[in-house]
Amino acid sequence: MSTIETSHHVPAQDIPLTGRAVIKSMEAYRALVEEAAQDHEAFWARLAREHLSWRRPFTQILDDQNAPFYKWFEDGELNASYNCLDRNLTSGNANKTAIIFESDDGRVSSVTYQALYHRVCRLANALRARGVKKGDRVVIYLPMSVEGVVAMQACARIGAPHCVVFGGFSAKSLHERITNVGAVAIITADEQVRGGKTLPLKSIVDEALAMGGTDAVKTVVIYRRTGGRIPWIGGRDAWLHELEHAQPDTCEPEWVSAEHPLFVLYTSGSTGAPKGVQHSTGGYLLWAAVTMKWTFDIKPDDVFWCTADIGWITGHTYICYGPTAVGATQVIFEGVPTYPNAGRFWDMIQRHKVTIFYTAPTAIRSLIKSADADRAVHPGSYDLSTLRILGTVGEPINPSAWTWYAEHVGGGKCPVLDTFWQTETGGHMITPLPGVTPLVPGSCTLPLPGIDAAIVDETGQEVPNGHGGVLVIRKPWPSMIRTVWGNPERFRKGYYPDELGGNLYLAGDGAIRDPDTGYFTITGRVDDVLNVSGHRMGTMEIESALAACPLVAEAAVVGRPDETFGEAIVAFVVLKGERPSGADVKRVADELRAWVGKEIGPIAKPKEIRFGDAMPKTRSGKVVRRLLRSVAKGEPISQDTSTVENPAVIAQFADPA
Ligand code: PRX
Repeated sequence: MSTIETSHHVPAQDIPLTGRAVIKSMEAYRALVEEAAQDHEAFWARLAREHLSWRRPFTQILDDQNAPFYKWFEDGELNASYNCLDRNLTSGNANKTAIIFESDDGRVSSVTYQALYHRVCRLANALRARGVKKGDRVVIYLPMSVEGVVAMQACARIGAPHCVVFGGFSAKSLHERITNVGAVAIITADEQVRGGKTLPLKSIVDEALAMGGTDAVKTVVIYRRTGGRIPWIGGRDAWLHELEHAQPDTCEPEWVSAEHPLFVLYTSGSTGAPKGVQHSTGGYLLWAAVTMKWTFDIKPDDVFWCTADIGWITGHTYICYGPTAVGATQVIFEGVPTYPNAGRFWDMIQRHKVTIFYTAPTAIRSLIKSADADRAVHPGSYDLSTLRILGTVGEPINPSAWTWYAEHVGGGKCPVLDTFWQTETGGHMITPLPGVTPLVPGSCTLPLPGIDAAIVDETGQEVPNGHGGVLVIRKPWPSMIRTVWGNPERFRKGYYPDELGGNLYLAGDGAIRDPDTGYFTITGRVDDVLNVSGHRMGTMEIESALAACPLVAEAAVVGRPDETFGEAIVAFVVLKGERPSGADVKRVADELRAWVGKEIGPIAKPKEIRFGDAMPKTRSGKVVRRLLRSVAKGEPISQDTSTVENPAVIAQFADPA
């Protein structure tokens, strides 16, 4: 049993590493921080030369002429898939296992770097044969699979930016992304299998393509996962295995500028429409590779497992690009942590001898509940002795979940790395280093070298340690977002707001630094973005979805703290007709939940829906969200309601019966 306490620092030496970390000591960390502070550009240039293979070396480092549209290494040329695949063939990794894949029903297969390379080349050739060329966008709507990585890497090989859409999004959300990004091809599967259930994918693609404005899509490639019956459109649709079969297994990569967009990934913001975060090739890949080494201390014999979905940024950086760029062996899992039972993660760590495990706080919290209820699925019932590093990402982790993870999964010997970052940052920003940074449960500790993080007030002035404020990054860094696809103004105004002086990257999170250690703790979003199970959801997005329902006159959505899922979505709704009562409350609420599922996807369904005759508003017509947040939490309304035009409706919402 370990003696980790929640309220004290956990000295790094109490959690020894089984190997020697890449960054070996606090002195070594400080030396890197100092190197970056002395000459920011030279620091990044050194890393870019050491960690990436360039077809044509860069001569420019940072171009800030058109700030905040920063450019890095722009005249350098490279190819991301060359760096992730070909490089491994010449460095002795050809026969090394790249991916251990475990399907939902427990079947295990593996693929070597050599085999992965050939599969990527075949699909890249097939896409080219179908007319997909450099700069064209390809939407990927696939389950967790080797094919997902093959599809992303094949796009990278031919310089076609990919846009992965999470398989849980609805036809409408998929359509919105296909049209916004202007896709020419889609790569999908017949169906996906999760938790023993089969769910459609190809028919959702067809539904999305039937919504119009998608004439540019000439090709739909389908991975046959289940063999289930699917609709087929001759000429447009093609089986992945048939395309691959017809193609040569090598493919000359498209050499692109370091600034060429590698991908666009949509995420939620504070307005109704999701934004397409555009990343570059060189700067993004650099940070994916470097953080695999610095944060995860990846070594040749490690078995790395990141449980994220490729539909999110974590799956991009720490499944598709990071592990392959450093020649690691990784586990990819098709299913869910609770099937066939809540011991699935622990069982897989034991069987695949996982050494580095990276997951979300929500998963840990729900597995704690199951482990408490049933000893058979408790991590203590498995041999997890191969583990040496644990990580979390996506949301704040509460100290009790952190401590449980450290003790029961890590056996008190693995550092738990609370890694803070975002879709927009491309890779880790603030995180402990394993075996080096003394850990404090609930804190992401210190910024990585080269990342100039600070906490400021609403005017952009730095606040003293111990005072809360908003998190900003002062200097540009190579893996940062380049723009919002098709909307540069939204990028500039949203991320470099004039109110902060126009030269600070605004993360959108509140944070505070410890007066003694300078450690950062993230306190949560300061905008209208919710974090539900580690998934980012915009309240406005859900409100617009509800408002589009013919039954609904008005809707307001807020988050309520949730013990397991971080936040729960609570919707306040005014119907066009009468406020429902009795059995109708549940019936209408279920109907609206199903509606949101269709409009956005199941992840956006409100946990609770409450009805009133009108929305509580100020005299100037603004919905009083602060009151609704209290109501959602079940707090007594002790706040001043004198500015509310119609205070009577608050009682209706507060008493859902
Ligand atoms: O609020 C922060 C939270 O997740 C947001 C970013 O979400 P997304 O772009 O979907 O990327 C998630 C995976 C990188 C952040 O603005 N967040 C992420 N990591 C942490 C976190 N909050 C607290 N602690 C973290 N370690």
